[in-house]
Amino acid sequence: MKLLVVGGAGYIGSHTVRQLRRSGHEVVVLDNLSSGHREALPGDVTLVQQDLLDAEGVRGTLQAHEPDAVIHFAALIEVGESMRAPARYYRNNVVGSLNLLQAIVETRKIPLVFSSTAAVYGTTDAVPIPENAAMQPESVYGETKLMTERMIHAFHTAHGLPYVILRYFNVCGAAPEGDIGEAHANKTHLIELAALTALGQREKMMIFGDDYPTPDGTCIRDYVHVQDLADAHVLAVEALHSGQTQAATYNVGLGHGFSVREVLDAVDALTGTPLKRELAPRRAGDPPRLVADATRIVKDLGFKPRFTDLQEIVQTSWNWHRSHPHDFRR
Ligand code: UFG
Repeated sequence: MKLLVVGGAGYIGSHTVRQLRRSGHEVVVLDNLSSGHREALPGDVTLVQQDLLDAEGVRGTLQAHEPDAVIHFAALIEVGESMRAPARYYRNNVVGSLNLLQAIVETRKIPLVFSSTAAVYGTTDAVPIPENAAMQPESVYGETKLMTERMIHAFHTAHGLPYVILRYFNVCGAAPEGDIGEAHANKTHLIELAALTALGQREKMMIFGDDYPTPDGTCIRDYVHVQDLADAHVLAVEALHSGQTQAATYNVGLGHGFSVREVLDAVDALTGTPLKRELAPRRAGDPPRLVADATRIVKDLGFKPRFTDLQEIVQTSWNWHRSHPHDFRR
């Protein structure tokens, strides 16, 4: 297959590009490089530097490259920033996706795999969370992903657009080769921050609340390794291409979670030096426990995560940050 990977130069996109090529697919990347990196891509991959807000340009790219399917990662992803700058998020994530959907149905009517998020559920009592749980996003970020999911459903109904929506839980880790990994300008994710703290780039780790109703009092999250997530995209796009799937939404997670303390303990065990920890107030909007019910993707697509051991997950993140202490700016 020939795939157009939109946002392919980003963290999850670049790992997916690698897995797609390993599975024998041809890849063209469309990315505006606002947060992606050319260095995260194989040197021989065609990169079209373009913004989804350039509707005409996107249509032209689909016509010029004639892909068999599109995988759409491109989005602004910071929850806090989305609350301060909603217009940017609605414009970039919703209008940008609308332009892409319209260009697809007007040119090639090919299948779409879309990156969604557990943030569409908001705070829920369901543990683990099934795909049919109530959706009440608490952030503008989650809202933009839910709005895009709804547009995709409407395009499926009106134009027969085949799609798979993947709702990611806490994506983490890095390619085991250690040459690509998480490289966001603004670091907020627990495992990445712990690795950078262990490297001495930060003084200490803050634990945002230890009075949650969980066994050790800290929040529990379902940490899915980026390489397993990349495999989920390969499975999804192949199921669409073969006609096995026409329209489906899947959670992507391990189906079990780890607490903040367990993650920090894993980093301590890895480096042999305990991280300096400080208790801080709860962070606004953090639900106590977010764990995927991932049975549907296992059953339908045969998803089988390889990284289920926390120590191993953290090790890949540590390897990447240790060899690239300034991300791609070596
Ligand atoms: N945490 C700390 N200290 C830190 C950073 C994080 O205690 O320095 C805690 C958080 O409070 C939370 C947990 O570690 O309880 C995980 O936090 P992350 O920031 O790593 O991830 P989130 O769970 O907030 O969010 C991530 C993505 C969202 C996505 C969500 C889905 O960033 O986009 O997972 O589960 F929606």
